Amino acid sequence: MQSDLSKVKGESTVERQGKVFWHATMSLDGFIADPQDRVDWVFAYKAPNPAADEAIRTTGAVLIGRRTYDMGVSKGGKVYGGRWSGPQFVITHNPPDPSDDPEVTFISEGIGAAVARGLKAAEGKNLLVIGADVVRQCVEAGLVGEILIHVAPILLGDGVRLFSRPGMELVKLERTELSEAGQITNMRFRLAKGSA
Ligand SMILES: NC(=O)c1ccc[n+]([C@@H]2O[C@H](COP(=O)([O-])OP(=O)(O)OC[C@H]3O[C@@H](n4cnc5c(N)ncnc54)[C@H](OP(=O)(O)O)[C@@H]3O)[C@@H](O)[C@H]2O)c1
Repeated sequence: MQSDLSKVKGESTVERQGKVFWHATMSLDGFIADPQDRVDWVFAYKAPNPAADEAIRTTGAVLIGRRTYDMGVSKGGKVYGGRWSGPQFVITHNPPDPSDDPEVTFISEGIGAAVARGLKAAEGKNLLVIGADVVRQCVEAGLVGEILIHVAPILLGDGVRLFSRPGMELVKLERTELSEAGQITNMRFRLAKGSA
């Protein structure tokens, strides 16, 4: 799905710009990982899911929080289980030596600059943002264009919250999709007009 945002460059070139896309699987009680950062429960629901397929198809680049990278991708895990490949930017205050993976770049810049870089690399497709802390910063900066949450039928009780920002101004959303795939409930949202 392409953003309706477009940028006119020069006199005749119209360059489409993708959205910043927040995509996560959440327990019914609002967690995206358990207290030990485990996410194995996410992969327990295996029904075909067109909403997830579309997310994969429309992703052009990924911005990953360093903790998410350390928990998954650095241990051989792949974005979308290997069903997607492309430029991946890992945001960290302490970039290690360059990655062996030519698709992975460690970056140490403000969230706005990181998102701009990711969108450019996405070449008109969406920039997927993964990790709670990095997503929170994107929301606070008014950068998120669309949200897809899969609600899994499980209670974790504790862990990494989908979103937490005490004292934040309300951000109103519009639900644009409600669907199911086996035991998973899909909910898609965009920011309500005037919210960001
Ligand atoms: N269920 C799901 O769908 C799902 C999806 C994604 C992630 N997860 C889980 O969520 C957990 C990780 O989320 P998280 O919120 O703890 O961490 P995160 O957002 O993945 O990463 C946070 C880290 O990113 C770096 N960072 C963030 N903003 C930065 C900035 N502006 N400049 C420089 N560096 C920045 C910092 O790393 P440094 O300390 O290196 O500076 C920070 O500690 C993991 O358990 C992961 O498995 C679950």
